[in-house]
Amino acid sequence: MPEQRILLRSHLGVDFTRLDDYIKHGGFAMWAKAQTLGPAGVTAEVKASGLRGRGGAGFPTGVKWGFLPNDGRTRYLVVNADEGEPGTFKDRYFLELDPFRQLEGILLACYAIGAHVSYIYIRGEYWNSKKVTQDAIDQLYAAGWLGKNIQGSGFDCDVYVHSGAGAYICGEETALIESIEGKPGMPRLKPPFPANYGAFGMPTIVNNTETLASVPVILEMGGQAWSDLGSPRNGGTKLVGVAGHVKNPGLFEVPMGTPMREIIYDLGGGILDDRAILAIIPGGSSCPFLTAEDLDVPMDFDSLKSKGSMLGTACITVMAEGLTDLLEVMRRITGFYEHESCGQCTPCRQGTGWLYAIADKMCKGQADESHIDLLISACNNIDGNTICAHGEAAAWPIRSIAKKFRPQLAAEIAKRAAARA
Ligand SMILES: Cc1cc2nc3c(=O)[nH]c(=O)nc-3n(C[C@H](O)[C@H](O)[C@H](O)COP(=O)(O)O)c2cc1C
Ligand code: SF4
Repeated sequence: MPEQRILLRSHLGVDFTRLDDYIKHGGFAMWAKAQTLGPAGVTAEVKASGLRGRGGAGFPTGVKWGFLPNDGRTRYLVVNADEGEPGTFKDRYFLELDPFRQLEGILLACYAIGAHVSYIYIRGEYWNSKKVTQDAIDQLYAAGWLGKNIQGSGFDCDVYVHSGAGAYICGEETALIESIEGKPGMPRLKPPFPANYGAFGMPTIVNNTETLASVPVILEMGGQAWSDLGSPRNGGTKLVGVAGHVKNPGLFEVPMGTPMREIIYDLGGGILDDRAILAIIPGGSSCPFLTAEDLDVPMDFDSLKSKGSMLGTACITVMAEGLTDLLEVMRRITGFYEHESCGQCTPCRQGTGWLYAIADKMCKGQADESHIDLLISACNNIDGNTICAHGEAAAWPIRSIAKKFRPQLAAEIAKRAAARA
């Protein structure tokens, strides 16, 4: 079995939403170690671990922390718990079942970067996540693990839960910051980057929930040891989801670089009715699609990039031959990105509408093969021409389907057009 559980726990009978239980099983032990290492030492361990952001882009976390300017301004840590990427269900594990893991990571990160306030931005639909996380925060304040002079250390730290209102675009870090400030969630032009001009115009680090939940483990094992768990330049273990046409869908944890085949077949139990695989989305619907030929790709940032796709959130969606209507898949995906576009830049606002309109025509038997080229052309006009990566997120998966599955699409388009005639 490829699974290696370090972040995920399987302690039957232990309730990790209770602070007593969390501490009994080693929780917050890394606070004392952090005091010995000092802020620079904590950052050095995170750098040595090679931890790369688990929100999808894979930027090295320790390097990002180092970007904060030393200009005496107030600093913030913003936690991205928006988890809006379709097919993704990994951060919810921490938010609902092991909330102190993330909160310990937040405290350690605040200490490392010199922030005294952190905002956890939780996806609007995640009612239970907000409840459990807030309850955990309340327990920490009551026990002196948050607030003033934490455990007599002289370090102050306040943590607030901020609820989203159901907009996918608020997962983009600058839209998220705007939303925290009480404004509509519209991405900002970058630069300036949040490290210089973030929440309330102050230097801000935005990190994903899983990224921060990994920090206590990194301190416990030591950065180098944690790095050695994964593949070169892709340190540690990673939560992976497996969903779609598989026999055993769920959330698992594997060393970075585990072949996708092992994740889908050994952990996900293989394909329903033992069918062949038609298509795979490796990490949320923004990723270019893969095919069965790519099954042996190691699940890490660099390997998936070399296949023309992305690790993304590492929550895999598997689509089987005979069970998948690719035209409908395109209609669903294009409809989602059109609906979620914030509308402030033309190629995304108009282009996502075009993508949906074309996919809709294909589904309704109102298209011919030339519409596949029109779809690719619309994707090309969006890609690289927008304020934020929502444009690419809309264009990349559709262009990959149009290019990789052209014969299947053309046959289905012709079939539907004939049925309609
Ligand atoms: C349209 C869009 C949606 C995003 N949604 C999320 C999200 O739900 N959760 C997340 O952690 N990152 C999301 N991101 C990535 C964030 O902008 C940012 O890269 C991430 O929070 C940085 O944290 P990390 O370095 O720990 O990965 C999204 C990006 C884009 C362009
Ligand atoms: S790319 Fe789309 S979501 Fe991003 S800023 Fe432009 S219109 Fe808004």
